[in-house]
Amino acid sequence: MKDQPKIELHLHLEGAAPPAFMKGLAARKGRDISHLFDAAGRYNYSGFVDFLRVYEQACELLETPEDFGALMFEVLTRSAEHGVIYTELFLSPDFCGGRDLSAWRDYLAAMEDAAARAEAAHGIKARGIVTCIRHFGPEAARETARCAAETAGGFITGFGMGGDESAGRTRDFAWAFDHAREAGLGLTTHAGEWGGPGNVAAALDWLRVSRIGHGVRAIEDPALIERLVDEGIVLEVCPGSNIALGLFRTLDEHPIGRLHAAGVKLCVSTDDPPFFGTTMTREHQSLARALDWDDAVFAGIAEVAARAAFCDEDTRRELL
Ligand code: ADE
Ligand code: ZN
Repeated sequence: MKDQPKIELHLHLEGAAPPAFMKGLAARKGRDISHLFDAAGRYNYSGFVDFLRVYEQACELLETPEDFGALMFEVLTRSAEHGVIYTELFLSPDFCGGRDLSAWRDYLAAMEDAAARAEAAHGIKARGIVTCIRHFGPEAARETARCAAETAGGFITGFGMGGDESAGRTRDFAWAFDHAREAGLGLTTHAGEWGGPGNVAAALDWLRVSRIGHGVRAIEDPALIERLVDEGIVLEVCPGSNIALGLFRTLDEHPIGRLHAAGVKLCVSTDDPPFFGTTMTREHQSLARALDWDDAVFAGIAEVAARAAFCDEDTRRELL
């Protein structure tokens, strides 16, 4: 399974920071980050809201463009080890200079340089999705969209939204998504993870995204399933994340099999792998075991991901 080339479209850069990387960085800075980890050395949180709190606390250690460059190289190296040949990373100007455009350019340059070095070293290709954080509010999202639009092209190929889906009204984020769309960026948003199917429909109506992060609670509404199929919307499904956060108890209860059988386009990702004790290898192995998915199913999923990727057509051809 490790050898099968994989495409990952839903990976948060900060959420992919291995504890060992963070501990090394903290030691070099003379900082104590033991509060982030449990006795076994894993990120320590309980439930989704607490996960977001610990995530944001961890981000406080990541301060400089060099920190983000080092993290990018580390994360891409790990992804390549799991057979990932192309990945899209959520990058947050909120954590990179606080949405200040000139600071964002410096952080982005460091991350892009690291991605180029990782491609040279490991062959993995990466693109960035500038991401706003829903619970930081619509004005912050507008500033983030301006950072995205000003740096669109080349490495930055998408705009997205993560964070707490229950915060605010989806329609209040429409300006940010319109601005990013006008800059030529591909669009995705987290929806239908903790929010119900209505949030997925609102994302399609107001934000006009082509991809949805998670979207798994669409399973609760047959009419929405039909709409996803008709409109060719791609779900970035992260089963290990959903199970680790307690949204579903097991893969048998997870709707990925039913969504796939219903003809919904979907791909598989890890979201925040060290937080959820997962890797792309593990995601594939677990699905193969629980759902009896064979290489042909995974090849189909890789094709969906290649077609949905926010990349130029030459790169897409290489992936197909
Ligand atoms: N940010 C990082 N991981 C996330 C998730 N699973 N849902 C929403 N926001 C996130
Ligand atoms: Zn996510």
